[in-house]
Amino acid sequence: MTVKTPAILTIAFAVTLTVVSAMSIALAGEPYLPAGNNFHGFMIRTVDPATQPIWELSYADKMTDADWARAQQAAANLVRSVSTTASGGNVPAEQARAKSPKWQGWTRKMAAEANAAKAAADKKDQMALATAGDNLLEVCGGCHMEFDQNAK
Ligand code: HEC
Repeated sequence: MTVKTPAILTIAFAVTLTVVSAMSIALAGEPYLPAGNNFHGFMIRTVDPATQPIWELSYADKMTDADWARAQQAAANLVRSVSTTASGGNVPAEQARAKSPKWQGWTRKMAAEANAAKAAADKKDQMALATAGDNLLEVCGGCHMEFDQNAK
């Protein structure tokens, strides 16, 4: 049996969550959240899983059709993740951080390389996929050096 959640309940739940998280920000009295929270989760759940297959498959000895399909899906997901990266996510303090020109600069580079990875995967060009993957390594690392307090 499938249970369908009425949309109105989903909306009510989302509103509740928003109110609760706004309250906890106000209670903490912090104008700026420490690194982590929503954007961190977005990196872990969305950006990283979209990038790992690109790195992994770039140097695979042999690419099957299934491998190419995986690379194409991953690169498409990475392209889709760019707009959230550019906006900084859903937490106001994290959105404020994302307005910095440096953040926007790294996001533009990420967009260019994600698109290059997608084009390479669509053409099944492993050399071009590896080039985009290598460039992504520098772009991800560059933004982390600048903005991730835990980055080494
Ligand atoms: C525009 C800046 C920016 C770009 C580009 C970026 N990241 Fe991040 N990433 C962050 C920030 C900032 C954090 C730390 C969490 C926070 O402060 O919100 C982070 C955290 C992470 C984490 C969690 C690390 C940990 O120690 O828990 C992973 C994994 C990650 N990013 C993967 C990637 C990958 C893969 C790419 C490239 C495709 C990438 N990121 C591109 C800003 C960026």
